[in-house]
Amino acid sequence: MTRICDIGKDVSRAAKLLREGGVVAFGTETVYGLGANAFDPRAVARVFEVKRRPTFDPLIVHVADREQLVDLVASIPSQAELLMDRFWPGPLTVILPKTDRVPDLVTSGLDTVAVRIPGHAQAIQLLREAGVPVAAPSANPFGLISPTLAEHVASQLGTLIDYILDGGPCDVGLESTVVAVTESETSVLRLGGVPVEEIEAVIGSVSIGHTPGAVEVESTTARRAPGMLARHYAPQTPLRIVHEADPATFDGNFRVGLLTAFPTPHADRFATVEVLSHARDLRESAANFCAALRRLDAAGLDEIAAFRFPDEGLGRALNDRLKRAAVCRG
Ligand code: TXA
Ligand code: MG
Repeated sequence: MTRICDIGKDVSRAAKLLREGGVVAFGTETVYGLGANAFDPRAVARVFEVKRRPTFDPLIVHVADREQLVDLVASIPSQAELLMDRFWPGPLTVILPKTDRVPDLVTSGLDTVAVRIPGHAQAIQLLREAGVPVAAPSANPFGLISPTLAEHVASQLGTLIDYILDGGPCDVGLESTVVAVTESETSVLRLGGVPVEEIEAVIGSVSIGHTPGAVEVESTTARRAPGMLARHYAPQTPLRIVHEADPATFDGNFRVGLLTAFPTPHADRFATVEVLSHARDLRESAANFCAALRRLDAAGLDEIAAFRFPDEGLGRALNDRLKRAAVCRG
Protein backbone atom coordinates (compact mmCIF):
# COMPACT_ATOMS: atom_id res chain seq x y z
CA MET A 1 0.00 0.00 0.00
CA THR A 2 1.26 3.48 -0.77
CA ARG A 3 1.90 5.67 2.22
CA ILE A 4 0.26 9.07 2.79
CA CYS A 5 2.92 11.78 3.13
CA ASP A 6 3.51 13.62 6.41
CA ILE A 7 1.17 16.45 7.40
CA GLY A 8 2.73 19.07 9.67
CA LYS A 9 3.61 22.68 10.37
CA ASP A 10 7.33 22.43 9.57
CA VAL A 11 7.84 25.42 7.26
CA SER A 12 11.60 24.84 6.92
CA ARG A 13 11.09 21.26 5.81
CA ALA A 14 8.48 22.35 3.24
CA ALA A 15 10.76 25.14 1.96
CA LYS A 16 13.70 22.76 1.60
CA LEU A 17 11.58 20.27 -0.33
CA LEU A 18 10.49 23.05 -2.71
CA ARG A 19 14.09 24.15 -3.27
CA GLU A 20 15.07 20.54 -4.01
CA GLY A 21 12.39 20.04 -6.66
CA GLY A 22 9.67 18.51 -4.47
CA VAL A 23 5.91 18.96 -4.61
CA VAL A 24 4.38 20.37 -1.41
CA ALA A 25 0.79 21.26 -0.56
CA PHE A 26 0.38 24.38 1.58
CA GLY A 27 -2.44 26.42 3.07
CA THR A 28 -3.37 29.86 1.80
CA GLU A 29 -6.25 32.16 2.72
CA THR A 30 -8.23 30.97 -0.34
CA VAL A 31 -7.73 27.21 -0.77
CA TYR A 32 -4.78 24.81 -0.40
CA GLY A 33 -2.19 25.02 -3.18
CA LEU A 34 -0.04 22.27 -4.69
CA GLY A 35 3.33 23.96 -4.99
CA ALA A 36 6.55 23.51 -6.95
CA ASN A 37 9.49 25.80 -7.74
CA ALA A 38 8.20 27.80 -10.72
CA PHE A 39 11.68 27.87 -12.26
CA ASP A 40 12.02 24.07 -12.18
CA PRO A 41 10.07 22.59 -15.13
CA ARG A 42 10.52 19.01 -13.88
CA ALA A 43 8.95 19.85 -10.54
CA VAL A 44 6.15 21.76 -12.27
CA ALA A 45 5.53 18.80 -14.58
CA ARG A 46 4.96 16.64 -11.51
CA VAL A 47 2.26 19.08 -10.32
CA PHE A 48 0.36 18.60 -13.60
CA GLU A 49 0.82 14.84 -13.33
CA VAL A 50 -0.35 14.59 -9.70
CA LYS A 51 -3.45 16.71 -10.41
CA ARG A 52 -4.11 15.00 -13.74
CA ARG A 53 -4.39 18.52 -15.06
CA PRO A 54 -4.20 19.17 -18.81
CA THR A 55 -1.09 21.15 -19.67
CA PHE A 56 -3.16 23.75 -21.55
CA ASP A 57 -4.32 25.06 -18.14
CA PRO A 58 -1.70 27.52 -16.80
CA LEU A 59 -0.67 27.85 -13.13
CA ILE A 60 -0.61 30.78 -10.71
CA VAL A 61 2.86 31.77 -9.46
CA HIS A 62 2.97 32.75 -5.77
CA VAL A 63 5.51 35.25 -4.42
CA ALA A 64 6.36 36.60 -0.96
CA ASP A 65 6.71 40.23 -2.03
CA ARG A 66 6.62 42.51 -5.06
CA GLU A 67 10.42 42.52 -5.46
CA GLN A 68 10.15 38.88 -6.56
CA LEU A 69 8.03 39.96 -9.56
CA VAL A 70 11.13 41.34 -11.30
CA ASP A 71 12.11 37.85 -12.46
CA LEU A 72 8.58 36.99 -13.55
CA VAL A 73 6.80 39.91 -15.19
CA ALA A 74 7.97 42.16 -18.02
CA SER A 75 5.80 45.19 -17.20
CA ILE A 76 3.07 46.28 -14.82
CA PRO A 77 0.23 48.48 -16.15
CA SER A 78 -0.82 51.29 -13.80
CA GLN A 79 -4.24 49.75 -13.11
CA ALA A 80 -2.53 46.55 -12.01
CA GLU A 81 -0.36 48.56 -9.59
CA LEU A 82 -3.51 50.06 -8.07
CA LEU A 83 -5.09 46.63 -7.61
CA MET A 84 -1.92 45.18 -6.10
CA ASP A 85 -1.65 48.15 -3.70
CA ARG A 86 -5.20 47.59 -2.53
CA PHE A 87 -5.61 43.79 -2.47
CA TRP A 88 -2.15 42.25 -1.88
CA PRO A 89 -1.44 40.23 0.12
CA GLY A 90 -4.83 38.68 -0.60
CA PRO A 91 -7.17 36.70 -2.83
CA LEU A 92 -6.42 38.47 -6.11
CA THR A 93 -4.43 36.99 -9.02
CA VAL A 94 -3.15 39.34 -11.70
CA ILE A 95 -2.28 38.25 -15.24
CA LEU A 96 0.69 40.21 -16.61
CA PRO A 97 3.15 39.95 -19.54
CA LYS A 98 5.80 37.39 -18.63
CA THR A 99 9.60 37.40 -18.82
CA ASP A 100 11.59 34.73 -20.68
CA ARG A 101 12.60 33.20 -17.36
CA VAL A 102 9.13 31.76 -16.71
CA PRO A 103 8.99 28.25 -18.18
CA ASP A 104 6.36 27.69 -20.88
CA LEU A 105 4.92 24.80 -18.91
CA VAL A 106 3.89 27.20 -16.11
CA THR A 107 1.97 29.46 -18.49
CA SER A 108 0.88 26.80 -21.02
CA GLY A 109 2.81 28.65 -23.67
CA LEU A 110 0.92 31.94 -23.14
CA ASP A 111 2.93 35.16 -23.13
CA THR A 112 1.39 36.13 -19.80
CA VAL A 113 1.87 34.84 -16.26
CA ALA A 114 -0.59 34.77 -13.34
CA VAL A 115 0.88 36.09 -10.06
CA ARG A 116 -0.29 36.62 -6.51
CA ILE A 117 0.91 37.27 -2.94
CA PRO A 118 -1.22 35.12 -0.63
CA GLY A 119 -2.71 36.71 2.50
CA HIS A 120 -1.61 33.93 4.84
CA ALA A 121 1.34 34.37 7.24
CA GLN A 122 2.58 30.77 7.05
CA ALA A 123 2.40 30.76 3.24
CA ILE A 124 4.44 33.97 3.10
CA GLN A 125 7.01 32.48 5.47
CA LEU A 126 7.20 29.40 3.24
CA LEU A 127 7.73 31.51 0.11
CA ARG A 128 10.42 33.55 1.85
CA GLU A 129 12.30 30.53 3.15
CA ALA A 130 12.03 28.71 -0.17
CA GLY A 131 13.49 31.80 -1.88
CA VAL A 132 11.88 30.86 -5.20
CA PRO A 133 8.51 31.74 -6.73
CA VAL A 134 6.08 28.86 -6.28
CA ALA A 135 3.74 27.71 -9.04
CA ALA A 136 0.63 26.28 -7.41
CA PRO A 137 -2.81 25.29 -8.63
CA SER A 138 -5.46 24.34 -6.09
CA ALA A 139 -4.47 21.04 -4.44
CA ASN A 140 -7.31 18.88 -5.80
CA PRO A 141 -7.59 16.46 -8.70
CA PHE A 142 -8.49 18.44 -11.83
CA GLY A 143 -12.15 19.45 -12.05
CA LEU A 144 -13.09 18.55 -8.46
CA ILE A 145 -13.85 20.59 -5.32
CA SER A 146 -10.96 22.67 -3.96
CA PRO A 147 -9.46 21.73 -0.56
CA THR A 148 -9.89 24.08 2.41
CA LEU A 149 -8.36 21.78 5.05
CA ALA A 150 -5.06 19.82 5.10
CA GLU A 151 -7.11 16.61 5.50
CA HIS A 152 -8.89 17.28 2.19
CA VAL A 153 -5.50 17.27 0.43
CA ALA A 154 -4.35 14.16 2.31
CA SER A 155 -7.40 12.15 1.28
CA GLN A 156 -7.17 13.02 -2.42
CA LEU A 157 -3.48 13.50 -3.21
CA GLY A 158 -1.65 12.41 -0.04
CA THR A 159 0.07 9.38 -1.58
CA LEU A 160 1.40 11.32 -4.56
CA ILE A 161 3.19 14.30 -2.99
CA ASP A 162 6.09 14.98 -0.63
CA TYR A 163 4.59 16.94 2.27
CA ILE A 164 1.44 18.78 3.37
CA LEU A 165 2.11 22.00 5.26
CA ASP A 166 -0.91 22.37 7.53
CA GLY A 167 -2.05 25.99 7.48
CA GLY A 168 -5.36 25.33 9.25
CA PRO A 169 -8.77 26.00 7.69
CA CYS A 170 -8.74 28.52 4.82
CA ASP A 171 -10.33 31.84 5.89
CA VAL A 172 -11.75 32.86 2.50
CA GLY A 173 -12.62 29.40 1.18
CA LEU A 174 -12.98 30.48 -2.46
CA GLU A 175 -10.18 30.61 -5.03
CA SER A 176 -8.65 33.99 -5.85
CA THR A 177 -10.31 36.39 -8.26
CA VAL A 178 -8.30 36.30 -11.52
CA VAL A 179 -7.94 39.57 -13.44
CA ALA A 180 -6.17 40.21 -16.74
CA VAL A 181 -4.84 43.76 -16.93
CA THR A 182 -3.54 45.63 -19.96
CA GLU A 183 -2.91 49.38 -20.36
CA SER A 184 -6.34 49.73 -21.96
CA GLU A 185 -8.60 47.23 -20.20
CA THR A 186 -9.13 45.10 -17.11
CA SER A 187 -11.11 41.91 -17.33
CA VAL A 188 -12.16 39.50 -14.58
CA LEU A 189 -11.43 35.97 -15.85
CA ARG A 190 -12.57 34.15 -12.70
CA LEU A 191 -14.85 35.39 -9.95
CA GLY A 192 -13.34 34.67 -6.54
CA GLY A 193 -12.31 35.89 -3.11
CA VAL A 194 -12.24 39.62 -3.99
CA PRO A 195 -15.77 40.72 -5.02
CA VAL A 196 -16.02 42.51 -8.37
CA GLU A 197 -17.68 45.47 -6.62
CA GLU A 198 -14.48 46.01 -4.58
CA ILE A 199 -12.32 45.92 -7.72
CA GLU A 200 -14.60 48.42 -9.45
CA ALA A 201 -14.38 50.71 -6.41
CA VAL A 202 -10.64 50.98 -7.10
CA ILE A 203 -10.38 51.16 -10.91
CA GLY A 204 -13.90 51.69 -12.25
CA SER A 205 -15.97 49.28 -14.30
CA VAL A 206 -14.41 46.05 -15.55
CA SER A 207 -15.60 43.41 -18.00
CA ILE A 208 -16.28 39.91 -16.78
CA GLY A 209 -15.38 36.60 -18.34
CA HIS A 210 -13.19 37.39 -21.29
CA THR A 211 -9.54 38.00 -21.95
CA PRO A 212 -8.79 41.41 -23.48
CA GLY A 213 -8.21 40.89 -27.18
CA ALA A 214 -9.41 37.28 -27.16
CA VAL A 215 -11.91 36.10 -29.74
CA GLU A 216 -15.17 35.46 -27.96
CA VAL A 217 -15.71 31.80 -28.59
CA GLU A 218 -16.11 29.18 -25.87
CA SER A 219 -12.97 27.21 -26.73
CA THR A 220 -10.76 30.29 -26.81
CA THR A 221 -12.05 31.48 -23.46
CA ALA A 222 -11.53 28.00 -22.03
CA ARG A 223 -7.98 27.85 -23.30
CA ARG A 224 -7.22 31.28 -21.92
CA ALA A 225 -8.64 30.60 -18.46
CA PRO A 226 -9.75 27.02 -17.95
CA GLY A 227 -11.09 27.90 -14.49
CA MET A 228 -13.88 29.15 -16.74
CA LEU A 229 -14.48 25.64 -18.15
CA ALA A 230 -18.15 24.72 -18.02
CA ARG A 231 -17.83 21.78 -15.64
CA HIS A 232 -15.40 22.40 -12.78
CA TYR A 233 -15.26 22.56 -8.98
CA ALA A 234 -17.63 19.58 -8.97
CA PRO A 235 -18.81 16.91 -6.49
CA GLN A 236 -19.42 13.29 -7.61
CA THR A 237 -23.09 13.47 -6.58
CA PRO A 238 -25.35 15.22 -9.14
CA LEU A 239 -25.98 18.80 -8.07
CA ARG A 240 -29.03 20.84 -8.96
CA ILE A 241 -29.53 24.57 -8.37
CA VAL A 242 -33.00 25.40 -7.07
CA HIS A 243 -34.67 28.61 -6.03
CA GLU A 244 -35.55 28.83 -2.37
CA ALA A 245 -38.99 30.18 -3.28
CA ASP A 246 -39.70 27.04 -5.33
CA PRO A 247 -38.07 24.01 -3.65
CA ALA A 248 -41.11 21.67 -3.73
CA THR A 249 -40.15 19.48 -6.66
CA PHE A 250 -38.63 16.45 -4.96
CA ASP A 251 -39.76 12.85 -5.33
CA GLY A 252 -40.12 11.34 -1.83
CA ASN A 253 -38.06 8.23 -2.70
CA PHE A 254 -35.11 10.37 -3.54
CA ARG A 255 -32.48 11.18 -0.89
CA VAL A 256 -31.74 14.84 -1.47
CA GLY A 257 -29.35 16.94 0.63
CA LEU A 258 -29.54 20.72 0.73
CA LEU A 259 -26.76 23.29 0.54
CA THR A 260 -27.99 26.72 1.62
CA ALA A 261 -26.19 29.94 2.46
CA PHE A 262 -28.57 30.86 5.25
CA PRO A 263 -31.17 29.13 7.49
CA THR A 264 -34.36 28.18 5.60
CA PRO A 265 -37.92 27.22 6.59
CA HIS A 266 -37.78 24.39 3.99
CA ALA A 267 -35.14 22.31 5.81
CA ASP A 268 -37.50 19.46 6.73
CA ARG A 269 -37.96 18.48 3.07
CA PHE A 270 -34.37 17.29 2.81
CA ALA A 271 -32.53 14.21 4.06
CA THR A 272 -29.73 16.41 5.36
CA VAL A 273 -29.01 20.14 5.34
CA GLU A 274 -25.80 22.19 5.32
CA VAL A 275 -26.40 25.79 6.42
CA LEU A 276 -23.27 27.76 5.53
CA SER A 277 -23.90 30.75 7.78
CA HIS A 278 -26.44 30.93 10.58
CA ALA A 279 -25.46 34.60 10.97
CA ARG A 280 -26.50 35.20 7.31
CA ASP A 281 -22.99 36.33 6.36
CA LEU A 282 -21.74 35.66 2.80
CA ARG A 283 -18.10 35.65 3.88
CA GLU A 284 -18.79 32.92 6.39
CA SER A 285 -20.79 31.07 3.70
CA ALA A 286 -17.80 31.17 1.33
CA ALA A 287 -15.42 29.97 4.05
CA ASN A 288 -17.64 26.93 4.70
CA PHE A 289 -18.65 26.20 1.08
CA CYS A 290 -16.05 23.62 -0.03
CA ALA A 291 -16.05 21.60 3.20
CA ALA A 292 -19.88 21.50 3.27
CA LEU A 293 -20.06 20.40 -0.35
CA ARG A 294 -17.58 17.62 0.41
CA ARG A 295 -19.65 16.44 3.40
CA LEU A 296 -22.79 16.32 1.24
CA ASP A 297 -20.86 14.47 -1.45
CA ALA A 298 -19.80 11.85 1.11
CA ALA A 299 -23.32 11.39 2.55
CA GLY A 300 -24.53 8.81 0.01
CA LEU A 301 -27.25 11.10 -1.39
CA ASP A 302 -29.01 10.72 -4.74
CA GLU A 303 -28.78 14.42 -5.37
CA ILE A 304 -27.51 17.66 -3.86
CA ALA A 305 -29.89 20.61 -4.13
CA ALA A 306 -28.30 24.03 -3.74
CA PHE A 307 -30.18 27.27 -3.17
CA ARG A 308 -28.86 30.12 -5.27
CA PHE A 309 -26.83 32.65 -3.33
CA PRO A 310 -27.76 36.37 -3.29
CA ASP A 311 -26.22 37.77 -6.48
CA GLU A 312 -23.88 40.27 -4.83
CA GLY A 313 -20.38 40.36 -3.31
CA LEU A 314 -18.99 36.86 -2.77
CA GLY A 315 -22.43 35.46 -3.66
CA ARG A 316 -21.59 36.02 -7.33
CA ALA A 317 -18.48 33.84 -7.12
CA LEU A 318 -20.41 31.22 -5.15
CA ASN A 319 -23.15 31.14 -7.81
CA ASP A 320 -20.46 30.79 -10.47
CA ARG A 321 -19.05 27.72 -8.65
CA LEU A 322 -22.55 26.22 -8.27
CA LYS A 323 -23.23 26.70 -11.97
CA ARG A 324 -20.07 24.84 -12.95
CA ALA A 325 -20.59 22.12 -10.32
CA ALA A 326 -24.13 21.54 -11.66
CA VAL A 327 -23.21 20.89 -15.29
CA CYS A 328 -23.97 17.26 -16.21
CA ARG A 329 -21.09 15.03 -17.12
CA GLY A 330 -21.26 14.39 -20.83
O1 TXA B 1 -6.78 30.99 -4.81
C1 TXA B 1 -6.18 30.52 -5.77
O2 TXA B 1 -6.08 31.12 -6.84
C2 TXA B 1 -5.52 29.13 -5.58
C3 TXA B 1 -4.42 29.27 -4.54
C4 TXA B 1 -3.64 28.00 -4.36
O3 TXA B 1 -3.58 30.35 -4.86
N1 TXA B 1 -5.02 28.66 -6.81
C5 TXA B 1 -5.84 28.26 -7.82
O4 TXA B 1 -5.17 27.81 -8.94
O5 TXA B 1 -7.06 28.30 -7.77
P1 TXA B 1 -5.85 27.04 -10.12
O6 TXA B 1 -4.73 26.53 -10.95
O7 TXA B 1 -6.81 26.05 -9.61
O8 TXA B 1 -6.57 28.17 -10.93
C6 TXA B 1 -5.82 29.13 -11.64
C7 TXA B 1 -6.66 29.81 -12.66
C8 TXA B 1 -7.08 28.86 -13.76
O9 TXA B 1 -8.41 29.16 -14.11
C9 TXA B 1 -6.11 29.23 -14.88
O10 TXA B 1 -6.64 28.92 -16.13
C10 TXA B 1 -5.97 30.73 -14.67
O11 TXA B 1 -5.91 30.87 -13.28
N2 TXA B 1 -4.70 31.23 -15.24
C11 TXA B 1 -3.43 30.98 -14.85
N3 TXA B 1 -2.54 31.59 -15.63
C12 TXA B 1 -3.24 32.26 -16.57
C13 TXA B 1 -2.88 33.10 -17.68
N4 TXA B 1 -1.62 33.36 -18.00
N5 TXA B 1 -3.89 33.62 -18.42
C14 TXA B 1 -5.19 33.36 -18.09
N6 TXA B 1 -5.59 32.58 -17.06
C15 TXA B 1 -4.63 32.04 -16.31
MG1 MG C 1 -8.41 24.77 -9.28
